[in-house]
Amino acid sequence: MTKVMRSVVTGVGGYLPDEVVTNNDLAQIVDTSDEWIVERTGIRQRHRAGADQPVSDLAVEAAKRALAAAGRSPDDVDLIIVGTTTPDLTFPAVATIVQRKLGCPVGVAFDVQAVCSGFVYALSTADGFVARGRSKCALVIGAETMTRLMDWTDRGTCVLFGDGAGAVVLEPGEGDGSTADRGLLGFALRADGAKQDLLYVDGGVSSNGQIGHLRMQGNQVFRHAVVNISEAVIAAAGDAGIEVADVDWFIPHQANQRILDGVARRLGIDEAKVISTVAEHANTSAASIPLALAKGVEDGRIEPGDVLLMEAMGGGLTWGACVVRL
Ligand code: UT7
Repeated sequence: MTKVMRSVVTGVGGYLPDEVVTNNDLAQIVDTSDEWIVERTGIRQRHRAGADQPVSDLAVEAAKRALAAAGRSPDDVDLIIVGTTTPDLTFPAVATIVQRKLGCPVGVAFDVQAVCSGFVYALSTADGFVARGRSKCALVIGAETMTRLMDWTDRGTCVLFGDGAGAVVLEPGEGDGSTADRGLLGFALRADGAKQDLLYVDGGVSSNGQIGHLRMQGNQVFRHAVVNISEAVIAAAGDAGIEVADVDWFIPHQANQRILDGVARRLGIDEAKVISTVAEHANTSAASIPLALAKGVEDGRIEPGDVLLMEAMGGGLTWGACVVRL
């Protein structure tokens, strides 16, 4: 039988900064309430990075935990891809800062900017290196300090986001090309730049020279989310050669519990198979999927051999899904 190289997840780690901001804390600064936020989003709290904590620090902590889980050291790492939309600096890439802070040898390091879809995009990109034998040990990280992009007078957005990081270690593994293989089995990535106005940041290096604030037409984004995500999930399952019903764990981007429920319902996924961290983490953009994955692994729900379905949608608009057997 033909042998196939797969990108196998050998370690997972998550990191959340210490400070917890509750809905009631936010009700002190904008006209909102715990009841509204919980009912419309499922969010109860979010974590916020300290002023002296750049996103690379969050990424490094998550990466250390993922490397420890994989039994690897920074010396082994030859590829780092960070999905982020909130870099420490305009350049260099967060990935190279992580490389320096971890003390990894010279290798490949770059960021992927696909906002909330960043982790799905980064994982799929890493597959092009790992499954082709160009990387023996890759770190794929989703890391964000979304609270830095908030307009704290806009109750429609500032209650939704939080900070954090999650990471996986990817290593090549030989399979027989069947769905029984461990590793990334399939993915589907999408973008529709015509919908930029629905979700964007109103600042940037080559426009107004400002960091800017996140702007979102929430109900419009919501409308696209369930349909777009469902299509990408079916396409990723098709690419992997599995049925959505065969999935052990559904690990969605954690934007809104109502979106999670809507997608699961549309795809016929049992809610007991859905990993939800939205209540505790809020929307951590590119970090939300690896953080949810880390939680599911740490609490023992997700086990080696399980088939994981991950999906996300965010600014761009970008969206996508991927299927991994752990
Ligand atoms: O990760 C990237 C992708 N992002 C998403 O997937 C987010 C998608 N969108 C959403 O999750 C939801 O649309 C929101 C949670 C952002 C908003 O929920 P909604 O049910 O779509 O509410 P809405 O925007 O239609 O607003 C309904 C009302 C408005 O008041 P009026 O005009 O009816 O008087 C808002 O002003 O709720 C008001 N509102 C709030 N009230 C209390 C908006 N934000 C708040 C708030 N507290 N924080």
